[in-house]
This record gives sequence, C-alpha cells and structure tokens, in this order.
Amino acid sequence: MTRPRLVLAYSGGLDTSVAIRWLAEEKGYDIIALAIDVGQAQPGEMDRVRQRGLDCGAVESLVVDAKEEFANDYVGPAIAANALYMGKYPLVSALSRPLITRHLVESAKEHGAAAIGHGCTGKGNDQVRFEVAAMTIAPDLTVEAPIREWGLSRDAAIAWAAERDIPIPVKKDSPYSIDENLWGRTAECGILEDPWAQPPEDVYERSAALVDTPDEPEELTLRFVEGVPVEVDGQPLPLAALVAEVDRRAGRHGVGRIDMVEDRLVGIKSREIYECPGAVTILTAHRDLEDLCLEQELAQEKRALEGRYAQLVYNGLWFTPLKRAIDAFVAESQPFVTGEVRLQLFKGQAAVVGRRSTIGLYDESLATYDEGDAFDHTQAEGFVKLWGLPTKVWAQRQGHVRQ
Ligand code: ARG
Repeated sequence: MTRPRLVLAYSGGLDTSVAIRWLAEEKGYDIIALAIDVGQAQPGEMDRVRQRGLDCGAVESLVVDAKEEFANDYVGPAIAANALYMGKYPLVSALSRPLITRHLVESAKEHGAAAIGHGCTGKGNDQVRFEVAAMTIAPDLTVEAPIREWGLSRDAAIAWAAERDIPIPVKKDSPYSIDENLWGRTAECGILEDPWAQPPEDVYERSAALVDTPDEPEELTLRFVEGVPVEVDGQPLPLAALVAEVDRRAGRHGVGRIDMVEDRLVGIKSREIYECPGAVTILTAHRDLEDLCLEQELAQEKRALEGRYAQLVYNGLWFTPLKRAIDAFVAESQPFVTGEVRLQLFKGQAAVVGRRSTIGLYDESLATYDEGDAFDHTQAEGFVKLWGLPTKVWAQRQGHVRQ
C-alpha cells in the first residue's frame, strides 16, 4: 500500500529535522521536505538544507527561492501600509508564514500530498499563521503539527535523533530561537526571557553595537515610486536587493534594534528582540514621504487603518477579506507616494533630514512666513469663527451644566 504524502515546511533546524522521521514513523507519511528561501540563507546554505532533508529521511527535498516573491507580494504591501505591530514590530515572521503556507499548499497539490506540516510549538503565533492561512486557501487539507503534538524537549529530541542516527544540524548551537528573512531577524528564549535583562551582544547579527558604529553620519537617499522604494542613492534596485542593501548600510550604524514586550495572539506576553535595520529605515522614509504627498483626510484615515492592518497580519489573517479590503484602500493611496527621502544614519538612528516630490502637496508660497506669502489671511477670521461655532453654542447653552 502506498503511504500518504505530506509536505513539511523544512528549515533544516533540529525540530523540523526530527519531525521528518517522527511523521514517517508515527503517522505513516512519506515526507516531502520543502525549504523556502525568504532571504534568511547565506549563499550555498539552501543546498545543504536540501541535502539534510534527504539525510533525515525525506523522500524528496525541495528548495524554493522566494526572495523576490516575498519582497514584492508581502514586504511591499507591508511598506505601503506602514505595518508595525504594537507600533514597533515590522512583522518579520508574520509576513513570511502566509507565503510559506502558499508554497506548501501548491506543492501538496503538485505532488498529490494528503497533508502539509509545520514545526511550530503550541505557544507561538506561527502555528496560527500557518493553519489559518491553510484554512483559507485549502480548507480541506490536513495540517500536521508534529512538534506541538509530540511535545519533546530539546534534549529529548536530540537523544531521540541520536538513537536513530538522524543527522541533526551540526551548526553551533544558538541559545536563542531565531527566525530570519529579508525583512529582519527575530530572537527569543534563553536569557531574553527575563525582560529586565539587557540582551547580550551575541543576540545580534545584522546591526552593530552603538559603541562600534562609525563616528561619522552617513547619508542615504531612497527614491519611492507609487509607494515602492526603487532606488538607493540613485541606483535602481529590485525590491529584494534594495531591502538587503539598506539593511546592510543601516545595520552598520546600529539602526533597527527593537527590544519589546509583545502581546502574542495566544495570550502570552513575551520578550522579543528584533533586528530590522532595513525595515526600520524604509518604513521611516515611507511614512515621511506620505506626510508630504497624501492629502490630509486620506492620510488620517490611512493612519487609523494601519494599526488594524498590522494586527490582522500578526494574527494570521493574511488571506482574509478585511485584510484584502485594507490592502485595496492602501493601494488606492500609493500612486501619490512618489519622491525622494534623505536619511542620516547615525548611532542607531535613521533620521529623515529632507524629502521632495514633484507631486508633493507642500506649497512654499502657502507655508512661508516670509515675502511671497500667498496665503489669504483675511479668510482666516471667518474660518475660525465658523469652525468654533458649534463649540461656542454649546458653551453658551450647556457649558455650565457639568463644571
Ligand atoms: N514573536 C514574533 C512573531 O510572532 C517572532 C516569531 C518568531 N518565530 C519563531 N519560530 N522563532 O512574529
């Protein structure tokens, strides 16, 4: 009898490596390992991950380079929406899970698999993102969560693998749980679980400590076309390469370290360390350019929706009607967001020091206090009177009621 197939989201790490064998032994699946490159890997690393999948017992091991897709279809909309969960977190992991799920589902169809699987535990957001994404794009597909179901400790998993000669990753053991992609890097666990403890320097990889950053500021100019960053210092780059370049330059100056206590969807407050030099720099610039280019009523409504959008994405609701409707609202606003932003990278900050746009709404003749002022001051008096009229009537009639 042929065994049912399962496509597993494979990272090459300990958990998903042992999960291959566990799913085969305990659940009777033939495993297809699917590793997705969303910008986390060093050159050559994905080939090693693919081989490790086979060594751990997968019947097939596949690697997909999804860097451009991740940049264009996930990071791009997040930039347009200025998406920051709790006003701080650029949604690094939350953005990649729907993409990975889409590939799992596609691969399951292609290979006639009966199920897909992920290596998440039961305490995090990622399980929700995988499973809810799967429910919306392939409601009838079975989703296995071997690590959540099995509930093994790290040491027990290592022992279990050793008994079976499973070649678990030899990579230097990190005391932290790391997730990484083009948009940033996340770290949890170990000493970081004490929210009072300052993160040790070895948590960080993509940003320099302030004591080591250059003592001279560096200028960086980003050009946006319709809300999408397209050039760095006049050099056109595809989005994935652009994000990587800004990440590298801002990281040298220690930009983008985020230390926060986060509200997880599963009800836990957790201490998270993020490193997102590129994301923080690009979002800072994009928001600033919107201030120049968006008409104020539109800008206000957009700001009100942005927090909601980030929350939907964080909570695993990427493929849902409300999230799509907000995307449509945001997309309608972005044709105006074309222009350039100058930033100064220095000692942990990406500070905007200038912006310009040929279609910007800044009108110097209206703004100036100098010669050439075109603003009609005589209109202001009547405007103020009418603007304050309802308040004045209220104050006259009811202002005394509750003092
Ligand atoms: N707390 C972050 C989030 O929910 C990061 C999750 C990182 N995931 C991981 N498997 N280490 O988006």
